[in-house]
Formats: sequence, C-alpha cells, structure tokens
Amino acid sequence: MDDRFNTIAGWVLFAGIVALGSSIVASEMYHSGRPDQMGYPIEGVEEEGRPGGAAAEQPIAFYLASADLAKGEDVFKKCVACHTIDKGGPNLLGPNLWATLGHPIGQGRGFAFSPALASKGGNWNWENLSDWLKNPKAFAPGTKMTFAGLGNPQDRANVIAFMNSKSDSPLPLPAAPAAAPEAGDAAADQPGTGTDDGPQKSEKEPVPKAPEEAAAAPKAH
Ligand code: HEC
Repeated sequence: MDDRFNTIAGWVLFAGIVALGSSIVASEMYHSGRPDQMGYPIEGVEEEGRPGGAAAEQPIAFYLASADLAKGEDVFKKCVACHTIDKGGPNLLGPNLWATLGHPIGQGRGFAFSPALASKGGNWNWENLSDWLKNPKAFAPGTKMTFAGLGNPQDRANVIAFMNSKSDSPLPLPAAPAAAPEAGDAAADQPGTGTDDGPQKSEKEPVPKAPEEAAAAPKAH
C-alpha cells in the first residue's frame, strides 16, 4: 500500500515538473504582452497624411542661399545630352549655355531658337531661369526644349548656381529673403502674448507672408 502511494506521488510530482517546465519554455517561445506598436505599419501613409505636406514653395532666392555647386553639377547631368556649358562649347540639340545668367533669352549663340523662346524678351535672371527649368513648356509654350522640368526647387537652385559659375563674371547670389519662418517663430516666443494659442495664432499667421511679397516685387524685368 505504502509502496503504491509513493509510486503515484512520484508520478504526480513528475507530471507537475513537466507541466511547469513546458510552460516556461512556451512563454519563452511565444512573447506575450502588448507589442510596442499596434497594427501593421503601412509605408507612405504617414507621409501623405502629414498636414501641409505639399508645402508652398519659397522664392528661388531662398533656395539659392543654400545652393551647392557640386550638387548642381550633378543635376546638370540631366542636361548634357543636349547642352554643353564650357566656354566655346558646341551647340548640340540645345545651345551652349556658357554665361547664361544675364544673357538675352533665346537670342544669338549661333542657335536657331524656337519663336516661342526667341520672342520672350528680357534677359535670364534667377527667377525666370527657375521658372523655365521648373516647366519649360509652361514658360514658353511651343519651345523646342523637350525636357520635363525640375520639380524640386533645391535641385533648380543648385543647377542655377552651377550655371552661374560657368561664366567670365558670375553674378553675386541674390540676397536670401528675410528668414520668414524664424521671424514668425520669434514673434511667437515673445512674452506677453498670452497662453491661449488659438485665436492669437491666426493673428500671427500673415507674418511669414510678408517677405514673399517683398521678394516678388523685384521680379519686374
Ligand atoms: C532633350 C534635350 C534638352 C535637354 C535634356 C535640356 N535642354 Fe535646354 N534646351 C534644349 C533646346 C532644344 C533648347 C532651345 C529651346 C527653344 O529654342 O525653344 C534649350 C534651351 C535652353 C536654355 C535657353 C538658352 C538661351 O540662351 O536662351 C536654357 C537656359 C536651357 N536650355 C537649360 C537647360 C538645363 C539647365 C537643362 C537640364 C536641367 C536642359 N536645358 C535640358 C534642349 C534640351
């Protein structure tokens, strides 16, 4: 009787140890608890949903202030199929682009410009060169330059700065427009504006617009 009791007790103990052991192993294998992040991340969604994602573009002078010649030379690789830019370089599908800034638009260079570009008038400057490179067809409907355009304003500023350097007398870069965002922030930080952000914020909103208008003024040819 005693013997049998010991045998049964032994098996019960053994079964308990096995059960305990396997539950420890299982909890190691299957992490329980809440994951750090719930749900499945879907790439790109956050990007698109960001309020103000398609931020309004600043005047080109803003991007020229941080233009990078080396990056501009890189961007110009998109142009070399049709353009040379060294002094005395040949015309290809498009004209040689030595000393473009300040040069009359669509004139000379021993190149047969389209009437669309030749009739534009004026000289190339920071703004109209930016407009042209952003969307050649919109700038001069009927142009022969079959190039889609450079949508990224910093790419445009970089390549324009690079083009400006390819000249006997590069122009000084335009003055950066008065730092609009910083001016706005400074006003927001000023003491005495109260704690309620709501209605005051809308009062401040027009502030960053001022430099844009100022930069638009000298646009006249
Ligand atoms: C597919 C060929 C092609 C590509 C690529 C191309 N262009 Fe042109 N480009 C032309 C042609 C053709 C013209 C003449 C347009 C006309 O007469 O309407 C031109 C004209 C120009 C002019 C006017 C020159 C002047 O003296 O008035 C500039 C500036 C210019 N291109 C810059 C660029 C830049 C910068 C790029 C690269 C970002 C570029 N182009 C890419 C073909 C091209």
